[in-house]
Amino acid sequence: MSDWHIKNNALRVVRILRIKPENPYVKTITFKDELSSSADPGQFIMVWIPGVDEIPLSISSVHPDGSVSVTVAEVGDATKALNSMGVNDLIGVRGPFGNKFEIYGKRALIIGGGTGMAPLLMLTNRVLKMGVGATVIEGAETKNKIVFLEELTSLPKLHNKSIKVFFTTEDGSYGIKGLITDLVEEMLHREKFDVVYACGPEGMIRKIYEITEQYSVDMQASLERYIRCAIGICGSCVIGGYRVCRDGPVFSEAQMRKMKNYLGKVRYNERGERIQI
Ligand SMILES: Cc1cc2nc3c(=O)[nH]c(=O)nc-3n(C[C@H](O)[C@H](O)[C@H](O)COP(=O)(O)OP(=O)(O)OC[C@H]3O[C@@H](n4cnc5c(N)ncnc54)[C@H](O)[C@@H]3O)c2cc1C
Ligand code: FES
Repeated sequence: MSDWHIKNNALRVVRILRIKPENPYVKTITFKDELSSSADPGQFIMVWIPGVDEIPLSISSVHPDGSVSVTVAEVGDATKALNSMGVNDLIGVRGPFGNKFEIYGKRALIIGGGTGMAPLLMLTNRVLKMGVGATVIEGAETKNKIVFLEELTSLPKLHNKSIKVFFTTEDGSYGIKGLITDLVEEMLHREKFDVVYACGPEGMIRKIYEITEQYSVDMQASLERYIRCAIGICGSCVIGGYRVCRDGPVFSEAQMRKMKNYLGKVRYNERGERIQI
């Protein structure tokens, strides 16, 4: 294991500084940790919730004062326990781990399904800082499942023409009514993008992978699997010969082609059982 991995893998205990509810099910939690604040868009950390579990979470923002945010959707014991913690409570962090989104070209299409926007918020800010234009689409079932509404809607005012932001909801309660993948297909049909970035439910990622193949546009996606060690040794996060924690979590179109039999189809749970997605 490299010095880099040994340093990043050490558990640090940090104090929660701020908590911002994004919607009734999701909170953004901010703490200070120098190592995590050096993360690149796409990287994740392991967050230990004392007495409950340790879970992987993407970094949603980093700030010059060394503070870092994660954005957490409540799905089970660990995420519920984390979202019920308060300011000044202590959590443990390891990382950052994994690779990053590669930024290139002149115009990017950034697609987030619900809390999948977490790593993409940081990516969007980095893309704009590097002078690359971006169209961002966030999709959710309904208005009260949208995340980063304020941040995303304020971006066009700050960056003028270099960014466009759209929302889709399945019930039409905010933005464009319908599935995010329908809007993606429409956008790729009428505009030219150099690269598509995606994160969210794997069914959505699979569909976007198929659309981008059809339009011959590069794509990168951040994938989720069951993560334990986070440093590539236990094998719990394997998808088609790749380890999500070490080879990912960001995968290229070529890598997704190689794992096509698994992407959006099969995963393994914490007991190693094969589950249909
Ligand atoms: C690299 C990586 C980055 C991640 N980044 C984030 C992030 O930024 N924000 C975030 O909220 N989550 C993120 N996740 C997912 C997060 O780690 C899981 O939601 C968490 O581990 C669930 O733990 P739990 O104990 O609350 O639920 P569990 O008890 O483990 O799961 C409860 C139930 O929810 C299901 N479930 C588990 N994960 C998900 C999920 N992601 N979506 C829907 N259902 C799920 C399980 O199959 C189970 O049925 C990330 C995962 C990976 C691998
Ligand atoms: S979580 Fe252990 S190899 Fe990826």
